[in-house]
Amino acid sequence: MSLVPYALTRPFLFGLDPERAHDLTLDAIAKLQNTPLQCLWSQPRVADPVTVAGLRFPNRVGLAAGLDKNGRCIDGLGAMGFGFIEVGTVTPKAQPGNPKPRMFRLPQADALINRLGFNNLGLDAFLANVQRAHSFRAAGGILGLNIGKNAATPIERAVDDYLTGLAAVHPHADYVTVNISSPNTKNLRALQSDEALDALLGALVERRAALDAAAGAGARAVPMFLKIAPDLDEQQVRLIAATLRRHGLDGVIATNTTISREKVNGLPHAEETGGLSGKPVFEASNAVIRQLRAELGSGFPIIGVGGVMSADDARAKIAAGADLVQVYTGLIYRGAPLVRAAALALKAQ
Ligand SMILES: Cc1cc2nc3c(=O)[nH]c(=O)nc-3n(C[C@H](O)[C@H](O)[C@H](O)COP(=O)(O)O)c2cc1C
Repeated sequence: MSLVPYALTRPFLFGLDPERAHDLTLDAIAKLQNTPLQCLWSQPRVADPVTVAGLRFPNRVGLAAGLDKNGRCIDGLGAMGFGFIEVGTVTPKAQPGNPKPRMFRLPQADALINRLGFNNLGLDAFLANVQRAHSFRAAGGILGLNIGKNAATPIERAVDDYLTGLAAVHPHADYVTVNISSPNTKNLRALQSDEALDALLGALVERRAALDAAAGAGARAVPMFLKIAPDLDEQQVRLIAATLRRHGLDGVIATNTTISREKVNGLPHAEETGGLSGKPVFEASNAVIRQLRAELGSGFPIIGVGGVMSADDARAKIAAGADLVQVYTGLIYRGAPLVRAAALALKAQ
């Protein structure tokens, strides 16, 4: 078990500006990972292997994208007991993201609002970090690499950024996530609409086939997942499900943050622009997962994410139709013990 209980660390971190707390924590993990001091936060991984999209996941609990955008803490975060870690979103070129402040806590609602805007160091730095990581994958952990577009790339050219990202991350990923659902990059979510999605997925699937083939016989095919928003109506989810099937995508990640404020109206920071995560997105995400499962039938991989704050919430995601779950905001509010509690609960099912 970890040597430092999160109950001691959290008051200190929550006394800081949220982004500062985030940066300090990641800096510490980056420095101490793979050293004896990793015992400060590490805990044994629950063994509950499951095969999804042809990949053998050591357990069903993963870290959602966006916490480690530059992929510099893969081994240290993996030591919290995750079965899989998704890093990024990475864009082809480095970009600063939106002006600060751009991350807010809503503790009364177990929630965060962020409008970071894909602040990241770009593909080259990202891949250097990914290649430096070793212990998590050596121990069987699954690594997902999440790609997006630069803010400066016009939306009509978005496909180019995704193709650039795919070609760069393909040799290094266990799976690739195509993120078209962040609310913080102008027009990004328009890529979820029928025609735009059809064109994007058509181009990506073709490029992926070429990359798989170029990797040679015996090399693995790299599964590609699409990450979608919770703010979609039934007709939109139906169309997305049909498009996923038509293009033979390997899975779907549901969901990203929400732009709705219905569940947090009146709370401090509720009016901030950005994506709301944590408990208030739980039900909306589950509704999307339930519909996706109904549309896609059993066997189509669904990764459920949004508002998992407890072991029971993880169970509810699986009950809604997910094969695997991811957490982000729950880790901020509950710490690493959530990872183990959720993995144990899913193993016991
Ligand atoms: C601060 C922050 C940054 C995020 N950045 C990304 C990102 O870069 N790419 C992405 O696909 N999702 C990103 N997300 C969304 C999460 O991966 C997740 O889908 C969402 O927060 C819902 O899960 P949660 O309620 O467990 O946080 C971010 C979320 C937060 C809170």
